[in-house]
Amino acid sequence: MKDFKDIVYVGVDDTELDLFEGQYKVPDGMSYNSYVILDKKIAVMDAVDKSCIARWLDNVALALQGREPDFLVISHMEPDHSAGIAAFAAKYPSAAVVGNTKIFDMFRNFYGVELPNKVLVKEGDTLLLGEHELTFLAAPMVHWPEVMVSYEKKDKVLFSADAFGKFGALCNETDDWACEARRYYFNIVGKYGVQVQALMKKLAAYDIAAICPLHGPVLSGDLGEYLSLYDTWSKYEAESVGTFIAYACVYGNTKQAAYALKDELESRGEKVVITDLARCDLAEALEDAFRYDKTVFAATTLDGGIFPVMEEFIRHLKAKNYQNKKVGIIENGSWAPMSGKLMRALLEEQKNVKVMDTVITCRSAVPGDIRELCAALADELLG
Ligand SMILES: Cc1cc2nc3c(=O)[nH]c(=O)nc-3n(C[C@H](O)[C@H](O)[C@H](O)COP(=O)(O)O)c2cc1C
Ligand SMILES: [Fe+2]
Ligand SMILES: [Fe+2]
Repeated sequence: MKDFKDIVYVGVDDTELDLFEGQYKVPDGMSYNSYVILDKKIAVMDAVDKSCIARWLDNVALALQGREPDFLVISHMEPDHSAGIAAFAAKYPSAAVVGNTKIFDMFRNFYGVELPNKVLVKEGDTLLLGEHELTFLAAPMVHWPEVMVSYEKKDKVLFSADAFGKFGALCNETDDWACEARRYYFNIVGKYGVQVQALMKKLAAYDIAAICPLHGPVLSGDLGEYLSLYDTWSKYEAESVGTFIAYACVYGNTKQAAYALKDELESRGEKVVITDLARCDLAEALEDAFRYDKTVFAATTLDGGIFPVMEEFIRHLKAKNYQNKKVGIIENGSWAPMSGKLMRALLEEQKNVKVMDTVITCRSAVPGDIRELCAALADELLG
């Protein structure tokens, strides 16, 4: 790896994968990262998904240059990283698998066998490889309970598990790290902001020159920007000033009202992002709802309830601890508009979500006084 002569990248790209974790679209694929630390003793850092085991073992063998590995360190037992462990243990029986109690318990539950050669570690334990030394730090719920990260003292490298990971195969990497890292963060780790904050506090005691995550590129150079984004995201603070408008409707009238509000907000200099929930990537919409400081929910009433994809979207937001937002509501109903009231009730259960008093109600078509209504809602949102 650039800058670190004893640390070799042995991860793999999966460009065939359609859905990560069974639900997230990954048009640019996914990387499953793994690293080899070459010293008097050799440690391999994490395994990979089952789709890529053979290529990973080839990469490991190449990096080893005929030597035998001493350790396989496991940070996270989710199968996108743990599926390769058994094949590794079979190929290198003298290598010990390093993990905490929860990691070994989960291994047993996932794979139904016992690892014959284990090193059990706990918070603060170290593993001396020669010049390199790893310190293990628990990172519970970033993103599962068993997760631990490893800090390598000589090169000041943090092996961060899923933290600082992103969607996208490395062969498709662009300069825009934040876009897919943000979508990954809020959808995969978003619920656990408090636990990410706890990890960040722990890491503040360490001098970190590079971050090696389990997905996405190695982060090096000025880490300030990445750390600052993670701090903002995990505190549920808005990263950008602006309004995200999500709409869901049948015949386009609610959409028309949503666009009228967009025009009004933009005429006042507000940044606005708008999306049709039935046609967009909901994970991307969720990312935008967390990113901006204001969200507007625009939905038609359907069978006395909220248009289904909007209800689903709000449920996703709640599951990821959506909070600290100013919220506007646009509703529609031809005989008994209910979506506004129902959306308000769901959203007001969230911490520090302030739903504006002005609600734009359409009774089929956009009302004649839509401009005045948009002005009133914009006054409140921007006020
Ligand atoms: C399947 C279906 C169910 C509906 N249920 C309700 C309802 O329970 N209450 C209501 O006021 N309007 C109901 N409507 C009427 C919609 O609210 C109407 O399509 C809407 O006012 C038009 O807005 P849009 O163009 O934004 O979809 C329903 C419409 C459809 C197609
Ligand atoms: Fe994970
Ligand atoms: Fe992962």
